[in-house]
This record gives sequence, C-alpha cells and structure tokens, in this order.
Amino acid sequence: MSLEDVTREKWATRIGFILAAVGSAVGLGNIWRFPFQVGQEGGAAFLVMYLLFVAIIGIPAMLVEFVVGRSSERNPINAFDRLGHGKWRFIGFLGVFTGFLILSYYSVVAGWVTRYTFASLTGAYFGEPAAYFGQISSGPAAIGFHALFMVATAVIVAAGIQRGIELAVKVMVPALLALLIGLIGYAFTLEGAAEGYAYYLSPDLSVIAANWTSILPAAAGQAFFTLSLGMGVMITYASYIDEDRNLGVDGGWIAGLNTTVSILAGLVVFPVLFTIGAEPGSGGPGELFVGVGGAIAQIPGSRFVGFLFFGVVTIAALSSAISILEVLVSYAIDNYGVERKKATAAISSIVFLVGIPSALSLDALTVFDQLTANLLLPLGVFLTVIFVGWVFQDSARELAKGTSGNANGTLPTLWIWHIRTVILAVVGIVLLISARNMYQTLSGML
Ligand code: TRP
Repeated sequence: MSLEDVTREKWATRIGFILAAVGSAVGLGNIWRFPFQVGQEGGAAFLVMYLLFVAIIGIPAMLVEFVVGRSSERNPINAFDRLGHGKWRFIGFLGVFTGFLILSYYSVVAGWVTRYTFASLTGAYFGEPAAYFGQISSGPAAIGFHALFMVATAVIVAAGIQRGIELAVKVMVPALLALLIGLIGYAFTLEGAAEGYAYYLSPDLSVIAANWTSILPAAAGQAFFTLSLGMGVMITYASYIDEDRNLGVDGGWIAGLNTTVSILAGLVVFPVLFTIGAEPGSGGPGELFVGVGGAIAQIPGSRFVGFLFFGVVTIAALSSAISILEVLVSYAIDNYGVERKKATAAISSIVFLVGIPSALSLDALTVFDQLTANLLLPLGVFLTVIFVGWVFQDSARELAKGTSGNANGTLPTLWIWHIRTVILAVVGIVLLISARNMYQTLSGML
C-alpha cells in the first residue's frame, strides 16, 4: 500500500473547510497588497475591475480547483494521475514552483508586520511612519524577522495537518473585522476622509479605458492572489471535503468574506493617506505601514491598538503562509515518503534563502511579486481551467454533487461553458499582456 492509499483525513467540522480556506485567503493580500494595488492603479477604477474579476473569473476558477481536489482526493501533483491524466501533472509542479516564490517574499512582508506588532508597544514608528518603514523594510533586520516568521510557519506545519488552523481562524477573522471597523470609524473623522472616499469609491471609468493594459493584469493578479488560486492551495484543501458539500455555496462564502476584508482595509488606508498628504500609490509596498501605522499613532491607546492590529494581521499572514507551505510539504511527504518534520525543515530553509533578495531590496520584492501574481498564478489558473473544462470529463458532475441538481442542471452547464470560453479568453489575454509587461520591466532593469 502506498502512502497515498491511506484513508484521508476529512475536515473535523462541517465549517472546518470554509474556515481553513478563509484562513488561507485572508492575509497580506487583503491588508497589505490590496491597498497598494488600488493606489498604483488609479483608485476606484481599479476597485471596479477587481470586483468584476473576483465575481466573474475568481469564484468560477475557485470551483475549478475544488473540483480537481474533491474528485481526486490527492495533492495537486498526484491529483492529475489519480484522475487518469498523468500528463497534466506538470500543472502541479508549476504550482509548487510558484508556491516557493510566493512564500519567499510573503514571509519578508509578514516579517515587517511581525516587527510592527512589537514596535507598536514602544511606539517606535509613531513619530515618522515613512522614515521608520524605510529603515526596517530592507537589510539585516528584515532578514531577521523574515527568519522568525518562517520558523513560526514551519513549526505549525511540522506539527501536523491543519490542526489548530480552524481555531485560529475562528478567532482571527472576527477580530480582524472588528479592528478594521473600529479603525474605519476613526478614519471617518479625518480631514482627508471625503477625498479618500472619492478616490477609492467613485470610479472614473475612462481610467480603465486609458490604462487597461496595466489595470487588467493587476486586477487578475490581485484576484488570484487574494483568493489563493493558481498554485494548488484550494485543490489541496478541497481534497479533504465531503461529497455532500455544495462547492458553489462554499466558494461564494469564502470569496465574499475575503473581499469584505479587502474593502474594509481600503476604507482605512485612503482617508489616512489623503489626510497626511501622501499620494496614493507612491508608498508602494510601504503604503499600509505608512498609512495605517500613521493613523494608529494618532489615536488614543495607540500602543495597544497598534499591537492588536498588527498582531491580528500577523496571525492572518500566518494562516495564509501555512496553506502555501502545506502544499509544498505534503507533496514531499506523499511522493517521497519524507518524514513531515524533515520535509518541513528542508523546504522552509530553501524558502528562507529564496526570500533573502526580497529582504535586501524592495525592487527585488516587487519583481517576485509581479512575476508570481501577474504571470505565474494566471498561468496556473489557465492550465487548470483547460484541464477541468476540456480534458476531464466529470467536472460538471463533480460540481453538482452536494446540490439538489445534477450535472446537466442549469448552473453546472453555465459554469462549464463559462470556464471553457470566457475564462480561458480573459485569462489568456491577461497572460499575453503580463508576459509583455514582465519582459519590458526586466529588460528595463538590465
Ligand atoms: N491569499 C493569501 C493572501 O491574500 C496569500 C496566499 C495563500 C496565496 N495561499 C496562496 C496566494 C496561494 C496565491 C496562491 O494573503
């Protein structure tokens, strides 16, 4: 009997799968990445594109990964063998590769957040938020906190599958929502609030028309990144779910909760940026730290509030990082019979090393981020959609399980044709534009 034949664990509680998937989805993508993408891509016009992407492309693409995971009950590489199409296992390898790259810089950013959690207690960044971020974001100190975060992630993954994640998410998501709502209340009272809301919420659609070659891939990248799509996380998590779950309903909940967190984060960041007179987008990866950090510094109980806010974001980042590392580790365990602890130690060490350039230079971090989010994740989604849409024959039937209908019902039929046509076309265009943009960025740097 191979390791794979062991009966698989299932989620302990009915809500366990949703909680774990939300834990993976809600993370730095919502709180750190989303606000600075909005800022860089011109504000509300990007928000509109992003929301359209989540609804029209993101949720159906999430169901694509769920279908592969639940029908195969395998990790993203073995899934394709198990479904009788071993030739497609390269999609799983691509996912593992992408996961290495994402986790490497994700851990660097999470290291900054961890540092801010402690720095809140002494108020270290309260005086000059922008200068403080400049000092700690690159260099030996950034490497130290990157190492700390990577060790924390590895310890949890080494301890065994998903234990503890369900609990952490049950506490974290409500705490994060409550803190964000509190901060939104504060941001509302600021002088720059009206300007911030206008920038963030009132779209000038001509901006989309003028900049679509930059907005389209950025919206796609942000949607896939924030929903944890394109590298097999959702395949892995769905491999532990029962057939009586309605995948569409679960996917809707996960995407809805996740999007809510992002939108709330923007409602804090933009009023603050306009109040302190910072141009949105100019802060790049530092936007959150300068924006929210600056806001927290002004309010009563700032040390405590800062500690809570960055502490909760650290936990959110941890539950997302775990989901990436788990894919890499479970692959090493299932396919090479490596012991969990050893696999975790080896893989997290490599990830740590790959992250060092990002801890030394914000430019390097940005290149890793753009390459993975705008190119590799859409590529992963594109290939998985081809497989589920055109190669695997049981997709619609798998989707219909756990619902009252069958494979020929309206929704599964609409879904399968939607992924076969609209999604492939849109993501295909994104890939072409991103490849061109990436080529231009890289050749500009040389
Ligand atoms: N979605 C997480 C966030 O927004 C990051 C993440 C976790 C991720 N797993 C992923 C991104 C898999 C892409 C692919 O913070």
